[in-house]
Amino acid sequence: MSAFSASDFNSKRYSSSRPSYPSEFYRIIDKYHDGERKLLVDVGCGPGTATLQMAEELRPFDRIIGSDLSATMIKTAKAIREESPDIYRNVSFEVSPSDNFEFLGAGSTDKQKVDMITAVECAHWFDFQKFQRSVYANLRKDGTIAIWGYADPIFPAYPEFDDLMIEVPYGKETLGPYWEQPGRSRLRSMLKDSNLNPALFYDIRVSCFHAEDIRDQAKLRQHTEMLLLIRKQITLVEFAEYVRTWSAYHGWKQDPKNKNKQDVADWFIEESLRRRPELTVNTKIEVVWNTFYKLGKRI
Ligand SMILES: C[S@@+](CC[C@H](N)C(=O)[O-])C[C@H]1O[C@@H](n2cnc3c(N)ncnc32)[C@H](O)[C@@H]1O
Repeated sequence: MSAFSASDFNSKRYSSSRPSYPSEFYRIIDKYHDGERKLLVDVGCGPGTATLQMAEELRPFDRIIGSDLSATMIKTAKAIREESPDIYRNVSFEVSPSDNFEFLGAGSTDKQKVDMITAVECAHWFDFQKFQRSVYANLRKDGTIAIWGYADPIFPAYPEFDDLMIEVPYGKETLGPYWEQPGRSRLRSMLKDSNLNPALFYDIRVSCFHAEDIRDQAKLRQHTEMLLLIRKQITLVEFAEYVRTWSAYHGWKQDPKNKNKQDVADWFIEESLRRRPELTVNTKIEVVWNTFYKLGKRI
């Protein structure tokens, strides 16, 4: 996934503008995980969004390692860690692809060391079959694989923005052509075709939540599983900053043919204000994301 690895990708903006994950979700993982907590590896960790949260939110692990293909992301993750070295003293970061755990020093006969492997908002970029085989090779028996993420938010109280939430990311004249595929389509479908293999994992749990269900109590009640609910009070300006963290925005910005066009994130603000003139750029409004998770335990 090249945009996040580009040396000019703004990984600091990514870290401050992307949503993080709610405490309630970490309770779901705590409850799900069985046994020892010596080592957790968070692959595709980016600037450490979930890695650093897990150090604070999960029942403690002795060691937490975040790994990512992008040296730019890992540099930012290390810098954020250094701001609070006491809180994050058991956390470290490695530049590594998601299916390589050589940084653990594990030889071919000594791989099953890891108690939990997480892949947050990144598994859509992976060769999923290869990834789950390497998870199987590196997790201990009964260890946890936890994959989760989010896509395509809505503003529940503003249905008149719904078409903008499709036009900005997927429009032909906006960011649509700039997503790397098939990664984005996989994320958009919330990894529905990437399933944990029951020959490798048991107690498999899957959740898929469409943010529009929040508008309908009857639909919400149909969810019997615990949900990953990512919601945030955000201003239009902050939302535009979030748009600027998308890999497709990075590609759009780099393309010379867009040089004289209005910035697509600014266009989103302008169009929202035109539709709801009572808002200002600084009014806080609620945004809710589509989310999914997949949990499994190694056989
Ligand atoms: C959208 S970011 C997610 C970062 C973080 N986990 C979070 O929750 O925000 C996706 C990350 O996956 C990384 N990535 C993409 N393909 C990868 C691969 N094959 N191996 C490791 N990391 C990868 C990218 O470099 C990027 O940092």
